[in-house]
Amino acid sequence: MAGLIPRQFIDDLLARTDIVELVDRHVPLKKAGKNYQACCPFHTEKSPSFTVSADKQFYHCFGCGAHGNAISFVMEYERLDFVDAIEELAAQLNLEVPREETKLTPAQQQQQQQALQQKQDDYQLMEKISHFYQQQLKSSSDKERVINYLKGRGLTGQIVKTFGIGYIGDSWDGMMKVFATNATITTQLVDLGMAIQGDKNRPYDRFRGRIMFPIRDKRGRVIGFGGRIIDEGTPKYLNSPETRIYHKGRELYGLYEAKQANKNLQRLVVVEGYMDVVALAQHGINYAVASLGTSTTEEQLQTLFRTVKEVICCYDGDRAGRDAAWRAMDNALPLIRDGYTLKFVFLPDGEDPDSLIRAQGQQAFEKLLTNAKPLSKFLFEHLLAQVDINSLEGKASLIEQFQPYLKKLPESTLKDAILTELANNFGTGNEQQLAKLNKLSKNTHKLPTIKIDTKITPVRMAIALLLEQPQLANEINSTLALAQLDTPGIPLLVELLELCKENPNINSAQILEHYRDSKKGRQLAKLLCWQHYVSKDTAKEVFLDSIEKLFADFIKKRTEVLLQKGRTGQITLAEKQELQTLLNNAN
Ligand code: GTP
Ligand code: MN
Repeated sequence: MAGLIPRQFIDDLLARTDIVELVDRHVPLKKAGKNYQACCPFHTEKSPSFTVSADKQFYHCFGCGAHGNAISFVMEYERLDFVDAIEELAAQLNLEVPREETKLTPAQQQQQQQALQQKQDDYQLMEKISHFYQQQLKSSSDKERVINYLKGRGLTGQIVKTFGIGYIGDSWDGMMKVFATNATITTQLVDLGMAIQGDKNRPYDRFRGRIMFPIRDKRGRVIGFGGRIIDEGTPKYLNSPETRIYHKGRELYGLYEAKQANKNLQRLVVVEGYMDVVALAQHGINYAVASLGTSTTEEQLQTLFRTVKEVICCYDGDRAGRDAAWRAMDNALPLIRDGYTLKFVFLPDGEDPDSLIRAQGQQAFEKLLTNAKPLSKFLFEHLLAQVDINSLEGKASLIEQFQPYLKKLPESTLKDAILTELANNFGTGNEQQLAKLNKLSKNTHKLPTIKIDTKITPVRMAIALLLEQPQLANEINSTLALAQLDTPGIPLLVELLELCKENPNINSAQILEHYRDSKKGRQLAKLLCWQHYVSKDTAKEVFLDSIEKLFADFIKKRTEVLLQKGRTGQITLAEKQELQTLLNNAN
């Protein structure tokens, strides 16, 4: 495992990235006062409530509550996890992401090193084998038959090359005799699924007499193969097994090639077969991918929606195709936020994308894509088919049927539209039912929202101002006295003061980063979004006033407590002295 990303690097990244520039590249911003505004990219709205502050290096939507720094924006907008978002921001600045040395024993370190080396070796070996298969396509004794087969399927040399398609002749050791030069490599070939260890015999080639399709990961490394028999025979396709470098539920055949072919990918079409991907590319649709199993997994859908906003699943019109589409939809529901769409194309009986595009051409296929069935329609059709909508019972059960799917769908205009449709056309007008629908829409995942509680306390004010202008920390010489106060919020204020003193150039976004995913972080974000109407010029004065007020309030409270104790005769000698001092200072 790679070590942690050093905190210092994350701070640097935030210091060097300008959030206004970053956001503006994706969502054009307009200047509004000292901030910038746009319609929120995270929910649908007509008037802009998405605000980006250059001072705070922070964004906040007053509509849906989305908020955060540059890292959060990349995570949310590009749907990346934390580490990938860091990688993305670093890449924009041409920086390598460093990793902290983890505290491993020398033995563990060596093991880690070996595993890393092993992977490098694996990728290299697979690449070499892929080259060998490609070369066999041109030089084996069956080359004429193979090339004729590919030509017969309508493929040009160019597309065969783009996809790295190759061939291996029908013998037990066509690949092994070239690559298995020693025992270590032989074992490695078995581990990578390229050779099969028989009972007694030497390992032999898994793929024999087949057209070879290399499966590449998103970085273009060959991690497995699919092999098709020429003409008839069983099995028609043979695929690499799961190995230490190939996990089929995670990969999509053709994704690397689609990204290479399109600088600015807008949509992706998901099909079933290798040949479908290749044939579509041959006819100008160079944005198709195949899921490498029967159904499209959640992980694959996540990858798809991280790459594009529109995904069209293309399946056979038969029962199996509809089932596969339904499973894909179920897996995709949690990912369908505003701006993201999933559609379905069901092909006529007996056709697949390959046969269809060859028969009818690019335009006809694109027309199918344009007319693809939206998710909501698919959902309604499928569920309506299961109930008798003419009866009240049927209507009631339709709403029941919708429940699990609506629950998975994030708050969005799509969800609102489905709920409205259900209530208007299939509701029974019954109040209980409407309440149920309402509850459904409340129960689901939401972006964290911020309710801004405007009750102004001195601690809140001090923290809010410090967050905006971390340099104010220098106005406080020591936090010792402050730390003695038992007012709620003081520990956080003291912690922040110390953080800002230790890091003299820290900015708001960096402070928030220190508290990512914590309760304190949420409290701080709330205060950073708070509109307190204190101008920049008066901030220092208000900040110092707030601190002073904290002490004054404390003294007042403490004095009262001690006076009360004095009245009831429970006061100790030390407390008497303390009271004396407090009273003296107050005057
Ligand atoms: P062509 O017949 O070459 O056009 O292939 P196709 O892509 O149209 O094949 P088909 O629709 O029959 O299958 C779709 C996908 O399912 C293939 O690309 C393979 O990934 C997989 N597949 C098909 N047949 C087999 C098989 O016999 N074994 C395995 N393991 N997978 C298969
Ligand atoms: Mn086919």
